[in-house]
Amino acid sequence: MGRNFFLSLQILVLRAFLSGAVALDIYKEKSPMLEISDQGCPDDNAITPCVCMRVDLDLDLDCSEVKSDQELQNVFMADFPFTQIRNFTILKPPSEGRVPISILNEGIFGSLRFQHIIISHTNLTFIQGDPFVNSSNVLETLAITDNHIVVFPFSEISKYTNLTDLRLFDNKLERLSNLESESLQYLQVSNNPTLLYGDEVFYDVPNLRYLGMAGINITNVAKNTFRFLHQLEILDLSRNNIQTLRNGSLWFESKDLNIIALDFNDINDMEPDTIGYCQSGGDQEICATDNMAIAPRFLMTNNQLTDIAEEVWSESFGLVPNGEVNYFAFDNNLIYCGCNIAWVAIDDTNKQLVSAGSTCENNGMAISELPSGIFIDQCLDEER
Ligand SMILES: *[C@@H]1O[C@H](CO)[C@@H](O)[C@H](O)[C@H]1NC(C)=O
Ligand SMILES: *[C@@H]1O[C@H](CO)[C@@H](O)[C@H](O)[C@H]1NC(C)=O
Ligand SMILES: *[C@@H]1O[C@H](CO)[C@@H](O)[C@H](O)[C@H]1NC(C)=O
Ligand SMILES: *[C@@H]1O[C@H](CO)[C@@H](O)[C@H](O)[C@H]1NC(C)=O
Ligand SMILES: *[C@@H]1O[C@H](CO)[C@@H](O)[C@H](O)[C@H]1NC(C)=O
Ligand SMILES: *[C@@H]1O[C@H](CO)[C@@H](O)[C@H](O)[C@H]1NC(C)=O
Repeated sequence: MGRNFFLSLQILVLRAFLSGAVALDIYKEKSPMLEISDQGCPDDNAITPCVCMRVDLDLDLDCSEVKSDQELQNVFMADFPFTQIRNFTILKPPSEGRVPISILNEGIFGSLRFQHIIISHTNLTFIQGDPFVNSSNVLETLAITDNHIVVFPFSEISKYTNLTDLRLFDNKLERLSNLESESLQYLQVSNNPTLLYGDEVFYDVPNLRYLGMAGINITNVAKNTFRFLHQLEILDLSRNNIQTLRNGSLWFESKDLNIIALDFNDINDMEPDTIGYCQSGGDQEICATDNMAIAPRFLMTNNQLTDIAEEVWSESFGLVPNGEVNYFAFDNNLIYCGCNIAWVAIDDTNKQLVSAGSTCENNGMAISELPSGIFIDQCLDEER
């Protein structure tokens, strides 16, 4: 009685200070009587071992201590006075054992709606149907990381009109189906050992800014895969098994590109028109620098490149703002430094853009410290 009374009082006071919409929104599903007499969490005993916490007007629900699927199901049989939860968490630190749940059924959460869901370091293996569908208007963050899920309802995400952040790294997902979302800004699917997807997977996620696809056994990048990500800033394709990058595989329309990570692949060949910046909305077949203000940084370390080929890289080098150094990282490749590399060696600006750790396979020298004189004498003469 005492606790409820004080909560009610607190709410009334808060209400008086908060103007309308935001504060009241959360409670609008219940009648005015209930709003005043029965704010907040269900009785602790009804939801044990979960813990419900009020933070101002928000409710957070933490179920990290559940011991079985059945126990989790029972929790949601409880009568929740209010259906909107801010944070729903099932989480153990990696140093502890996994939370022993294995399945989320469609319907398990009843009428509860969540803004942020974090399920991490559990034994979760099966997601049946779309258990989060009642949250489709309110869900902003969905993080199901470090579990064993094989399937995720990617085809449903167009319904999640407020979803900005989807993290599914460290699972066993096998298939990423074509995505459709206006709201999604951050997608992290790294470390799903063999994640397959189609060439048009990113044609309808125009607001994506971060895309993490490291360690998913990518062997080939199709032409224009990332082109229609108009807001893309960071693309992480590191730790895959890419050997060849072909014409158009890194064509972009985004003007905001910041980092392209391709480190720890097996790249030994890049075709001349691999990298390009395209005119937005255009359907031209060749993409060049026209549309780009600044080239992104490229992380190419730990590959098998034998050259920094002028026809692949010179456009990007030319787009870097004055004064930048260490912009393109070619450390731990197999670069042969002959006249092929003269376009870098004789140009102090270009040389500084290559990371200090990028070395020549044939003589061990740092590319950034190659003496331009020799290249001018040997290579420019040769051409005449
Ligand atoms: C709940 O979510 C908010 C927003 O994501 C976050 O700032 C806050 O730390 C979370 N609270 C808890 C208790 O996890
Ligand atoms: C998680 O599942 C594995 C088998 O898939 C099992 O060996 C392990 O004991 C489970 N861990 C927990 C905490 O349930
Ligand atoms: C959505 O909520 C309704 C009650 O409002 C419930 O009957 C239904 O099972 C829920 N659906 C899912 C998929 O959770
Ligand atoms: C969508 O998210 C924003 C904050 O990111 C929030 O202000 C808004 O109320 C949310 N919409 C719904 C329907 O919950
Ligand atoms: C990675 O993909 C290649 C070709 O698609 C396949 O042959 C190989 O088995 C895959 N590797 C793993 C670890 O699944
Ligand atoms: C790359 O493909 C385009 C057509 O999309 C073609 O016009 C161009 O010549 C190709 N570049 C190379 C180096 O083959």
